[in-house]
Amino acid sequence: MINFVFKNPTKIIFGKDTENSAGKETKVYSDKILLHYGGGSIKKSGLYDRVRKSLDEAGIEVFELAGVMPNPRLSLVQEGIKLCRDKGINFILAVGGGSVIDSAKAIAAGVPYKGNVWDFFSGKAYPAEALPVGVVLTIPAAGSESSDSAVITNEDGWYKRGLTNECLFPVFAIMNPELTFTLPAYQTACGAADIMAHIMERYFTNVRDVDFTDRLCEATLKTMINNVPRALNNPTDYAARAEIMWAGTVAHNNLLSTGRIGDWASHGIEHELSAIYDIAHGAGLAIVFPAWMKYVYRHDIKRFAQFAHRVWNVEYNAFNIEETALKGISALESFFASIGLPVRLSQANIDEAHLEEMADKCTGSGSWSIGNFVKLNRDDVLNIYKLAL
Ligand code: NZQ
Ligand code: ZN
Repeated sequence: MINFVFKNPTKIIFGKDTENSAGKETKVYSDKILLHYGGGSIKKSGLYDRVRKSLDEAGIEVFELAGVMPNPRLSLVQEGIKLCRDKGINFILAVGGGSVIDSAKAIAAGVPYKGNVWDFFSGKAYPAEALPVGVVLTIPAAGSESSDSAVITNEDGWYKRGLTNECLFPVFAIMNPELTFTLPAYQTACGAADIMAHIMERYFTNVRDVDFTDRLCEATLKTMINNVPRALNNPTDYAARAEIMWAGTVAHNNLLSTGRIGDWASHGIEHELSAIYDIAHGAGLAIVFPAWMKYVYRHDIKRFAQFAHRVWNVEYNAFNIEETALKGISALESFFASIGLPVRLSQANIDEAHLEEMADKCTGSGSWSIGNFVKLNRDDVLNIYKLAL
């Protein structure tokens, strides 16, 4: 295990009816806020009305910015920054999923910054501060509700880039599993793939003696494997929805990273897909992750065999651990397919047209490598896209 600092300041308010505390929790920080949300699911479900009521009862002045799209766009972030500055807003309440939360975080970092907020995402500058952001979560997936990251797409060139900084941790996250009952099956599955990917990015490490966090990762993955089919069979199964929601937060709140170095190549490879093709991030990961595994498993067959045995109950064949390892990769791929996700680019109607371009964007045309478990150069990334066709 390597040295680590663990800090996660996000207050989690979890359970039934918790959205009714949005006003009280927000009031701690501000009397004048931006309410930020997406394409209308929160109005349809009635959540919007409950949150507004709670904010009104707390005497909070509310300005609104709706219309966050999945794979959130820079242009709306710019609009939000202007609105906050014009109105003197000093708090953002994000009601929705990862896209809404990330857009809120980008606005929060952009308001006190004199330059262009994209500087933070292109690596030109680092935010020194951000407005506080609160969250009412409606989809377990990105883990943004208690992560220090935001991912934004710049329409000028379709670059999807992430920013990680301590000032981006939300101050609170309200998480009522009942809010996820209205999720379409496909979004539930995409969220599940993202959660599982966040665990696996951390699981595949070269750091030795990480038994405790290995076991935490395996338990979190097994929780997903057990509960996602239950939630898909019965969307109002509170118990299953609650397990998935909490697992989704723990998957990405950095606890599972403690003492180890994660890989993160699959996320980099996927972000190019969702930038160009505007597919759901989770669907992209269901395609990329198994392909990445097939490309790199020989680097540490034992770790892949452990993954197969402990997570997927594959019989451990000590005389042929490669076979065990490969069965684990197949089990993951079959699971993704069984919950309705694409596991090949062709199943998402993506052909080879942009593979070279995506490999270039992912590696700065070969000027940097990605991944820590195995370092991948531009041609490796291209080979993984090809393996996923
Ligand atoms: O826009 P609305 O109407 O809200 O509809 C959304 C959207 O269409 C819908 N939805 C959400 N909750 C719902 C619901 N529909 C019915 N009932 C509900 N309860 O679901 C759709 C997808 O929402 P989105 O916010 O895009 O999903 P997700 O949470 O998966 O976020 C994806 C974004 O997060 C980024 C991804 O790259 C992607 O841009 N990520 C952010 C991370 C972070 N900040 O730490 C880490 C992740 O690895 C990821 O990269
Ligand atoms: Zn992700």
